[in-house]
Amino acid sequence: MKRLDGKTALITGAARGIGLSFAQAYVREGARVALADIDLERAADAAGELGDAAIPVEMDVTDQASIDRAVARTIHEFGHIDILINNAAVFTAAPVAEIDRDDYRRVFEINVSGTLFTMQAVARHMIERGSGGKIINMASQAGRRGEPLVAVYCASKAAIISLTQSAGLELIKHGINVNAISPGVVDGEHWDGVDAFFARYENKAPGQKKKEVGEAVPFGRMGVAGDLDGMAVFLASAEADYIVAQTYNVDGGQWMS
Ligand SMILES: NC(=O)c1ccc[n+]([C@@H]2O[C@H](COP(=O)([O-])OP(=O)(O)OC[C@H]3O[C@@H](n4cnc5c(N)ncnc54)[C@H](O)[C@@H]3O)[C@@H](O)[C@H]2O)c1
Repeated sequence: MKRLDGKTALITGAARGIGLSFAQAYVREGARVALADIDLERAADAAGELGDAAIPVEMDVTDQASIDRAVARTIHEFGHIDILINNAAVFTAAPVAEIDRDDYRRVFEINVSGTLFTMQAVARHMIERGSGGKIINMASQAGRRGEPLVAVYCASKAAIISLTQSAGLELIKHGINVNAISPGVVDGEHWDGVDAFFARYENKAPGQKKKEVGEAVPFGRMGVAGDLDGMAVFLASAEADYIVAQTYNVDGGQWMS
């Protein structure tokens, strides 16, 4: 018996990186998974490699009609949704004196509004169905404290921790567990982008910031996407039924709370 046998999941931002690793782990554990992403071509390639248990779904989490279509499509394909992972997000960095209002809006639309309104759409379905569910939001160590140059992204991830608490406390009466995972530094395309911002603003050579943050992790290296799979499977399983409104650090010892 696998831990997610018979379960169905919608994962946003699943075309690559951590979201894709979650999709692969869920399929290994017996779930059927909708890989939802703004990059449909890449989601389709990834779903194709996962076989019959996975479908690609086009989704822009900043667009309410697109959220509604993606949720409806997943329900149509699988019959219902047991698990949602709000994983899609973008990073940005700039000195406070240079933060651009349009960039701020873009990041909050994707990271915060995208999480809130996807959670709302799936929670409505779960409440109506009456069988409970699991919702996992992707926070970050960036949401645990501020950081120079990273005001906007840090604030967006602090909002995820807060949304997880409010929604978690409210939705548990419907048997819906809302919790979050807070990664530290995870290697991949996301961090290639982060590294490029720091190369620009801290005048570092490409790759230098990545090397520095990796060496600073108590575990001794940067994370890889698969390091988070165990927590994502656990929080989606019946073993986590009594866990409500929490944010779990999975970061090699970076943050203690
Ligand atoms: N990589 C890290 O070091 C790290 C650390 C802490 C938290 N996180 C969080 O983990 C999650 C996954 O990170 P990752 O490293 O895999 O990121 P990533 O950039 O590799 O992947 C993000 C995915 O989201 C998709 N996406 C972007 N905008 C979208 C939109 N509007 N609608 C739908 N999909 C959209 C992208 O196409 C991409 O496939 C994010 O929430 C991120 O903030 C990552």
